[in-house]
Amino acid sequence: MNLFILTGAGISAESGLGTFRDTGGLWARFDPMKLATPEGFARDPEAVHAFYNTRRRAMAQARPNEAHRALARLEAALGDRLHLCTQNIDDLHERAGSRRVVHMHGELLRHRCTGCGAVERGADDLDLDTPCPACGRTGTMRPDVVWFGEMPMHMEAIEDALLAADLFVAIGTSGSVYPAAGFVAQAREAGIRTLEINLEPADNARLFDAGRYGPASETVPAWVEDVLRERG
Ligand code: OAD
Repeated sequence: MNLFILTGAGISAESGLGTFRDTGGLWARFDPMKLATPEGFARDPEAVHAFYNTRRRAMAQARPNEAHRALARLEAALGDRLHLCTQNIDDLHERAGSRRVVHMHGELLRHRCTGCGAVERGADDLDLDTPCPACGRTGTMRPDVVWFGEMPMHMEAIEDALLAADLFVAIGTSGSVYPAAGFVAQAREAGIRTLEINLEPADNARLFDAGRYGPASETVPAWVEDVLRERG
């Protein structure tokens, strides 16, 4: 069985990292147009750096939860028959033991130079004085994350993996940001079974064949146990 799993902010919620659209979520407190768009960055780079520096520090304090760990166990059992694609820019899947995570919205632990295009791994804060490790320029570094209006990363490989799956599972995502929000419809059209695992049904829940609801730290390990038991 080939599995394609899409995760969203809900899987990291119990690790203490906020979601975006729940009550009190990040986009209720901060304006995404100011902090997560190329235009916002051009207008006020200091504010954007401060926002992502704070998130990077919060991520360093956070620990993977039982849901991340269960998906790492599933990968250990299924190997390359599991495709794990996340919208999250945190590294909690990796720290739980997942080896092959595709970050479609980029990663907080990567920095990109808008001058020379170099991408470097790094956990340090960024600001306008941070020199690019490759070209040495300052004022050109940004987090290597995807902002509104930018193309998500690795889309070709993601679509190939999605369409090769027997089961598509969306975990902890509100299904409101495209293209990820469209994966369930693409899977259905291709005759692939679909499952939503979420705190409660998302707005697009009716598009899924089945749903399992509750906190990810409980629902994901229970589902993984069922998958591992079924395959014997
Ligand atoms: P959202 O904040 O839109 O949705 C989070 C989902 O997780 C909701 O459906 C919640 O019900 C659910 N949830 C909350 N707590 C949970 C828990 N303990 N267990 C299980 N589920 C829980 O986050 P995303 O769908 O990930 O993009 O958002 C998608 C994209 O929008 C993000 O990648 C980000 C954001 O703007 C960019 O910044 C480009």
